[in-house]
Amino acid sequence: MTNRWSERDIDAAAEALRRGALVAFPTETVYGLGGDATSDEAVAAIYAAKGRPEFNPLILHVADAEAAAAIAHLPDAAQALTEEFWPGPLTIVASLRAEAGLSRLATAGLPTVALRVPSHPLAQALLRHVSRPIAAPSANPSGRLSPTSADHVLAGLAGRIEGVLDGGTCPVGLESTIIGFDGDHPVMLRPGGIAAEVIEARSGMPLREAGKAVTAPGQLASHYAPKSRLRLNADAAEVGEVFLGFGTAPGAAINLSPTGDVVEAAAHLFDALHQLDQAGAPIAVSPIPEIGLGRAINDRLRRAAAPRPEDEEACP
Ligand code: TXA
Ligand code: MG
Repeated sequence: MTNRWSERDIDAAAEALRRGALVAFPTETVYGLGGDATSDEAVAAIYAAKGRPEFNPLILHVADAEAAAAIAHLPDAAQALTEEFWPGPLTIVASLRAEAGLSRLATAGLPTVALRVPSHPLAQALLRHVSRPIAAPSANPSGRLSPTSADHVLAGLAGRIEGVLDGGTCPVGLESTIIGFDGDHPVMLRPGGIAAEVIEARSGMPLREAGKAVTAPGQLASHYAPKSRLRLNADAAEVGEVFLGFGTAPGAAINLSPTGDVVEAAAHLFDALHQLDQAGAPIAVSPIPEIGLGRAINDRLRRAAAPRPEDEEACP
């Protein structure tokens, strides 16, 4: 095995992650763009560095199954899989523990969370040093190829991240397989580094395909939507509305960024929607500029404001 890293590199990377900086690191699948999953600001910085036009929920990386169990309620069927395949290129989606203390932006506001225990020795060492869940999508700009070497990472992200731990070439070279659950039945959400047949053979459980599965509410839904109605591009709240502001927004119940900073606004978006949703009143939202993370914020807001199936019917 190559050994291009020292204890000092790992310490420095762990320290950077703890203060909210971004560090790319190797896993057995691809290089991940890591940030502290408990920090809204660090997670917003991940989306900004990737230039992602939307907020997908991210995979959280932890050192072992015990750390994963502190974040999510793993059903029995999930435990059978994690005993067999962790550490390794398997990601499990399970319901999030309320007390886990994660950034809502990391899970895109969903009640579920994707967890993975990578086997790469450098990823393992880093996660043990940080002892916090690390959100890490592939370390490439949005729309570009996933990186399998430190050089690939730097070619796409130099100047946008604090650094990259060089662990050589990723042996698997393909993202992890993602499995969710429909009750106790495992469901294939993303094919990846472990083949479906191998999972079925070694766990003895047949995998359902995501499209055919009867999905429990929230389990496979890809996006959180607030219960309250949203009115976008509002300059002020009308009677009965609460106002979610951006920039100069007099009377805003919450202002995503009084200074008009889209990265700060992204960091607060999901928390703000959850908080305002408690009030049960319709939400008026300031215009957000279509620049940088503003595009992802607007994508999310447009989905949240889109007509819903229940709008077609008169039933409650
Ligand atoms: O191999 C990998 O998994 C790489 C390396 C770096 O570990 N990571 C990776 O992470 O691919 P990421 O964050 O790009 O994966 C995000 C995908 C989402 O597009 C979605 O498909 C799935 O993970 N996901 C995350 N949270 C989910 C949830 N709560 N429910 C369903 N799918 C979820
Ligand atoms: Mg990717």
